[in-house]
Amino acid sequence: MKPKLQIALDVVSIKEAQDILSLNNLVDEVDIIEAGTVLLAAEGASAPRRLRETYPTKMLVADFKIADAVNTIGWMLFDAGANLITVIAAADLATVKIAGQLAKKYNQHIQIELYGRWDFDLAKEWFKGGVDHVIYHHSRDASQAWTVSDIEKIKGLIGIGFHVSVTGGLKPEDIEMFRGLEIFSFIVGRSLYEAKDPVEVARAFKQSIDASF
Ligand code: 5RP
Repeated sequence: MKPKLQIALDVVSIKEAQDILSLNNLVDEVDIIEAGTVLLAAEGASAPRRLRETYPTKMLVADFKIADAVNTIGWMLFDAGANLITVIAAADLATVKIAGQLAKKYNQHIQIELYGRWDFDLAKEWFKGGVDHVIYHHSRDASQAWTVSDIEKIKGLIGIGFHVSVTGGLKPEDIEMFRGLEIFSFIVGRSLYEAKDPVEVARAFKQSIDASF
């Protein structure tokens, strides 16, 4: 299946997020909506709840990057209508396993956010613990270029069985680098919502995806 295009809404109010999605029907150009970490910090679980009310059938991610207390935080986010919620790679394995069980209960999914230190042995434990998605992430603060070493790590994660999403300062011209890999989604924030014409940029991402997959 072709990779999906996900918009990450790292803005500071639900109104701003809704305005971005509705401007020239940008929402119709993307496959997945993400209530970003910044939006969740500003508005809490109301953000996915309101997005779910407005877009009842769209796939919805709540990117909280949960580190602990996953039963409580995860419950709030799934209950608000999220299909996928994120747990940070640094979380204890116990947290990851509880997250996997919670997702199963809701018939939804957990994504592990790969920041900082992790290895393939740990990734295999996550997979065994019921987590089937990871997000291969270039952090916003580090702002690195994509390299062959990233591609090799992504291949390894796909080899374990994960659905792999890719994110971090992506631009349409970056997409071809991932050609032929089974990528679940490309997650894009600023390149879309800071663009003069977000619809045009979303279409450019889609064209790059069509050309490479
Ligand atoms: C930051 C995130 C962002 O939502 C994601 O990386 C997309 O943002 P951008 O395309 O603006 O880098 O999770 O931690």
